[in-house]
Amino acid sequence: MSKVSVIMTSYNKPQYIGKAIEGILKQTFTDFELLLMDDNSNDETQQVIEGFLTDERIKYFRSDITSDSERAEKIRYAALINKALGMISGQYISYATDDNIFRPQRLEKMVDLLESHEDIKIVYSDSMVFSLEAEGKQKSMHRMAKSITWLAPCQVDHCSIMHRADILPVIYDRWGSYWDEDPQFYFIGDARFFWRLNHYWPFYPINEILDDNYITEISLHTQMRAKDNEKNSILRQLPEQKTCRELRQYLRSLNGARK
Ligand code: TYD
Ligand code: MG
Repeated sequence: MSKVSVIMTSYNKPQYIGKAIEGILKQTFTDFELLLMDDNSNDETQQVIEGFLTDERIKYFRSDITSDSERAEKIRYAALINKALGMISGQYISYATDDNIFRPQRLEKMVDLLESHEDIKIVYSDSMVFSLEAEGKQKSMHRMAKSITWLAPCQVDHCSIMHRADILPVIYDRWGSYWDEDPQFYFIGDARFFWRLNHYWPFYPINEILDDNYITEISLHTQMRAKDNEKNSILRQLPEQKTCRELRQYLRSLNGARK
């Protein structure tokens, strides 16, 4: 049993994933398990991962997905997260990706807030987002966590939250799954999960940067902006995508009814 379960999804990011794993292993809070969920990455990525597997806090799972058509059928990271959520032992859950680096106190600060406030179910923090622009330029954005929010979709990233594990059965009972795997939400899978959470609970802020997020050249969000003929084959097979706007509008109507 560990206090915290961290779930990391991974697919083909050999230049980044080592730093992402290290960021977790070097946390000041040490009572965690890391569920490393790899979506059958290339050999280069597998080699980096293998270097870490001697650490007994890591539980490693590798999927058997091979074709891009299978990758487009479901939101892959949602499917891997759902699988991991069936295997966790932690009282608190955090999410990570292969291109996000936790700052050393990321877990400690979130655990502290949850431990000291029994009524709080979900916490979130500031995050720095770095994206590569044309000609190798880097653009950065500071995502703020300032207020208690009932409108987390597309305002918060899943790498910047921690929630209690005991809220999960409520979500499962209502929607038949934890994360929605419907590929219409491929670009906003975390927003869709937060949409579910915000039906019941708000997110509480920690106004401090606790992670650094990298939008890489192969990230879905970089690919999404590419011209149709330059998009990768997973993206070309996706159905029409739902938007944040719809999710946020719906939550606003719920919030109106709540007042
Ligand atoms: P990523 O490409 O980083 O997209 P974004 O632009 O949203 O950051 O992918 C998000 C996560 O999904 C990342 O952890 C890798 C995972 N993933 C899979 O597990 N399987 C896949 O087939 C793809 C494309 C991504
Ligand atoms: Mg990413």
